[in-house]
Amino acid sequence: MSDFPLFPAQASTVAWQVDALYFFLVALTVVFCVLVFGMVAVFAIKYRRRSDDEQPEQNHGNLALELSWTIIPLFLALFVFLLGADVFFRLQRAPADPLEIYAVGKQWMWKIQHESGKREINTLHVPKGQPVRLTMTSEDVLHDFYIPAFRVKNDVIPGRYTTMWFEATQTGEFHLFCAEFCGTQHSGMIGKVIVMEPADYHDWLMGASAGGESMAEAGQRQFQELGCETCHKTASSGRGPSLVGIFNKQEKLANGQEVTVDVDYLRESILQPRAKIVEGYEPIMPVFEGQISEQSLLQIVSYIKSLSESEE
Ligand code: CUA
Repeated sequence: MSDFPLFPAQASTVAWQVDALYFFLVALTVVFCVLVFGMVAVFAIKYRRRSDDEQPEQNHGNLALELSWTIIPLFLALFVFLLGADVFFRLQRAPADPLEIYAVGKQWMWKIQHESGKREINTLHVPKGQPVRLTMTSEDVLHDFYIPAFRVKNDVIPGRYTTMWFEATQTGEFHLFCAEFCGTQHSGMIGKVIVMEPADYHDWLMGASAGGESMAEAGQRQFQELGCETCHKTASSGRGPSLVGIFNKQEKLANGQEVTVDVDYLRESILQPRAKIVEGYEPIMPVFEGQISEQSLLQIVSYIKSLSESEE
């Protein structure tokens, strides 16, 4: 059926589950539709008025009938909720240690960066059989990253990071669409996802046009150029907190709250440092909002993440 565009290939681990839920909902809808319209037709004939003075027998309720048409739909609705929740949690929770890839949407293209430093536009190369997590943001307006064959889709929002994960199950080329109206060329904001055997993907990453420096290396270079290093020294003697080993940890703030150091927190702390001040430090860091591009920001975030990985 994959030749028929309503049923794209099932090319990810969650695809069959999304489809199963969809077909179950369609089947349920068809069953109730036929039931309701069938009864309308049958009753219209069976209880039609046969003569002007005919008085039908009066019905004063039927407890068993009313209970059954309340309880059966209740359990059907709960069952649909369970199926939906199961798919939802599968789609939301990436497995441990996925391959990280970064995407920036822009009117009207997708800019992709791999951690090795390799970059591409409107094309996304991924290995087969390995979980991939995309961290995405937009340089301008709302976009939406949509890969029909993987049954995954998520909004790409200016000013914040959203993530999405998938694991491809077959090699080949698949459509990539923007699924949020984002301006006159929205319909042209299309690309392709190329799923390769892991060894081929590795060769491709290391191929001739490999970026040279990895994302973390590019981030480190900018970290030095922007002068971040003057305050965020690795030892705790700097005017700003040390960034070594902080990723995914809890950080205590001056106002007593605790935050988890994730990509969104790092992003906010670079662009608007005064939003959350770490306990024991002064709000002296300059604001970088409007000073760095989304791609540079992702590289710096990737560098700060790497400071936590080397510790393990
Ligand atoms: Cu980007 Cu529609």
